[in-house]
Amino acid sequence: MNKLTVIKTKRLLLRQWKDSDLHYYASMNADEDVMHFFPRLQTEEESAAFIDVQLQRIDERGWGLFAVEVIESKEFIGFIGLNPTTFDSNFTPCTEIGWRLRKEFWNQGYASEGAKACLTYGFRDLDFKDIYSFTAKLNLPSERVMQKIGMEQIGEFSHPRVPEDSILKPHILYHLSQSKFNEMNINSAYNPNTKFSNLLQIQ
Ligand SMILES: CC(C)(COP(=O)(O)OP(=O)(O)OC[C@H]1O[C@@H](n2cnc3c(N)ncnc32)[C@H](O)[C@@H]1OP(=O)(O)O)[C@@H](O)C(=O)NCCC(=O)NCCS
Repeated sequence: MNKLTVIKTKRLLLRQWKDSDLHYYASMNADEDVMHFFPRLQTEEESAAFIDVQLQRIDERGWGLFAVEVIESKEFIGFIGLNPTTFDSNFTPCTEIGWRLRKEFWNQGYASEGAKACLTYGFRDLDFKDIYSFTAKLNLPSERVMQKIGMEQIGEFSHPRVPEDSILKPHILYHLSQSKFNEMNINSAYNPNTKFSNLLQIQ
């Protein structure tokens, strides 16, 4: 399979990470509003290490948590993408879809737009059979994105990596199967004759 360079949607580029993203990414991870539903903020070193991991994964496999850029302004706004889970639960190991954006860019439909493109990429080009998503029960904006992209709630769980006494421990679990995705409208972007190339355009 060709290596992914970029996924293009109407307004967004989902792309490999660049050195210049670190400053904005680290600031985002130090923002209490962005990290409201996480147990703690992240240091610049942790942000840099995360970027290194994603860079390597995207380079080797063609998928991961992509850096997201607004096409018109070229601004880095956060990440959206696909990620292998690394904790033990009754639904893992699996591939999750996830997102985190700078707060200046919330509520403009960016997470849903980028996530729909990632579902298309995951189900159509990578041939994943199932994609999951989860978040703290209190994280209503993130749950709303799951609903907007056509995922269905299949359960709840206590996240093993969140401290026992935290209000963030209860999580909701959403899922979408490849067969369900193929029946959805989102799939209007699906063209079985167009094989994945290094530029994937999903409107
Ligand atoms: C979750 C996040 C990525 C959503 O990004 P976004 O680009 O704003 O998402 P969208 O605009 O596509 O959709 C957001 C939806 O949530 C809704 N929403 C926003 N705040 C809400 C709230 N407090 N309660 C309920 N719904 C809310 C919006 O109205 C919108 O739904 P609508 O289109 O039906 O009106 C963004 O809020 C974020 O980065 N949060 C911090 C990081 C995070 O929590 N990531 C997820 C961890 S699992």
